[in-house]
Amino acid sequence: MPVYVVTGTNRGIGLEFIRQLVRDHANTVIACVRSPTSDVGSLQSVIEGAKNSNAIILDCDISSTESINRFVGTLAKQQVLGRQKVDFLVHNAAINIKPEMNSLNLEPDLVHQMITANVLGPALLTSALLTAKLLSSDVRIFHISSGLGSMAVSLDHKPRQSAGYSISKAALNMLAVHQAEDIKAYLPGAVVVLVDPGWVKTDMGGKNAIYEPSESVGNMLKILHSLEQSNNGEYFHHSGRRVPW
Ligand SMILES: NC(=O)c1ccc[n+]([C@@H]2O[C@H](COP(=O)([O-])OP(=O)(O)OC[C@H]3O[C@@H](n4cnc5c(N)ncnc54)[C@H](OP(=O)(O)O)[C@@H]3O)[C@@H](O)[C@H]2O)c1
Repeated sequence: MPVYVVTGTNRGIGLEFIRQLVRDHANTVIACVRSPTSDVGSLQSVIEGAKNSNAIILDCDISSTESINRFVGTLAKQQVLGRQKVDFLVHNAAINIKPEMNSLNLEPDLVHQMITANVLGPALLTSALLTAKLLSSDVRIFHISSGLGSMAVSLDHKPRQSAGYSISKAALNMLAVHQAEDIKAYLPGAVVVLVDPGWVKTDMGGKNAIYEPSESVGNMLKILHSLEQSNNGEYFHHSGRRVPW
């Protein structure tokens, strides 16, 4: 009965994660959305479509410490997880505000918002779940990064795009490298990795993207389910190859 927590699941890649996870009724799936007023129509259809799936929708705004703590408090209640703990934590939710910003016209408020959501969100949610003792001893923590978070990939990317977002994903990469080491003091069996989903057809990726969410997420779940200790701190492309830092 593995337990999955996925953030940002009302659309895009997060919704596809839920679509694929609820097919297996052995999974307990916690589908997080930004707020109680989020449009969860598609998410509800996906959950109801997989009859008798074991999935619930909870709100968790990764830009809000208060919301993160409330979410973890809800999970800590016996009726949500019982005696189970989180086996797979997928940090998927993220924002890319004003992609046309480059490094010479960064708008501080927008960059702050992206750092808050894309870096501090996954950091604080992981810490809150750890502190509440809700992570299983061999939890897999999966950070959805981007090729734009890689220095090496970005150097070859012309024209360079989404400078603020790219900076936030590079910071996320460093967060994961630190978490991979720091979490060992508490959960020696834990594995923390980053994955680049590729250019995916979602609201963020746009219509011209290469991959369907189904292909990208199918590949990412294969990686998630095959992680070993030796992978701790690694940065994958959804195809399975490593992304250069
Ligand atoms: N699509 C691509 O080509 C691509 C490429 C590389 C990396 N990625 C990464 O893949 C992940 C998913 O991207 P996507 O393409 O599915 O993006 P998307 O279509 O824009 O969906 C983003 C999801 O994150 C949620 N979200 C945003 N801010 C949130 C917050 N503060 N709290 C909770 N949820 C929040 C959104 O909820 P709302 O509906 O409430 O806004 C939505 O469910 C992201 O980490 C992204 O950086 C995507």
